Amino acid sequence: MTVIDAGPAGEFRLAPSILSADFGNLGHDVALIDAETDWLHVDVMDGHFVPNVSLGPPVVASLRRYSSRFFDCHLMMSEPGRYLEAFARSGANGCTVHVEVGGTAGLIEEAHALGLRVGLAANPDTPFHAVAPFLGDIDLLLLMTVFPGFGGQSFMAEVMEKVEEARREIDRNALLVDLEVDGGIDVATAPIAVRAGANVLVAGSAIFARQDPLAAAATLRAAALSVVS
Ligand code: DX5
Ligand code: ZN
Repeated sequence: MTVIDAGPAGEFRLAPSILSADFGNLGHDVALIDAETDWLHVDVMDGHFVPNVSLGPPVVASLRRYSSRFFDCHLMMSEPGRYLEAFARSGANGCTVHVEVGGTAGLIEEAHALGLRVGLAANPDTPFHAVAPFLGDIDLLLLMTVFPGFGGQSFMAEVMEKVEEARREIDRNALLVDLEVDGGIDVATAPIAVRAGANVLVAGSAIFARQDPLAAAATLRAAALSVVS
């Protein structure tokens, strides 16, 4: 399967999260929204860094047969370094690790050596200065707009100050870094996040918990793009 690449940094992208899809019918659900999928966001939870368990490399490998989209894997794991190689081999294209787990410089280096696009994530209460030193070494900064672990939570608007700060730094230094937000993104909050400077929007329940996921994704994209100048 030839995978569509990540695209130029900074461009708008919609990244549907499969966390709210039907896990018994993942191939079907992923195909259903393909036309509105720029990246496919794959949430990996280890039951330790977050109080929930989701999926791992075998599921990514299976999904690879159903989608040629860029797989944006969000590793909510205490020890992501133990699994980076397995994800790369399973067909992950980008892997995002959390700054809260530490060992960040080594993880970034290891993921790049595996040919992955590398993301760094920060929880809502993690300050910008925790991720700032790594901005020049990563491809994506993920600023969580909920505490990770579950889909369907409410968007934390207070994170927007951090998003604005990150956007200023990325632009000031002309960095090729995507700025992603994840959690509580819907038609009402997507424009707020884009206005603050996010260019990649993750959305789970606003797409998969709707009657018509493809139409919901299209509506979400239109709402986000309505504020892109
Ligand atoms: C939260 C996950 C998210 C989640 C978002 O822990 O990282 O990607 O799927 O779900 P919604 O869009 O429902 O908040
Ligand atoms: Zn996520």
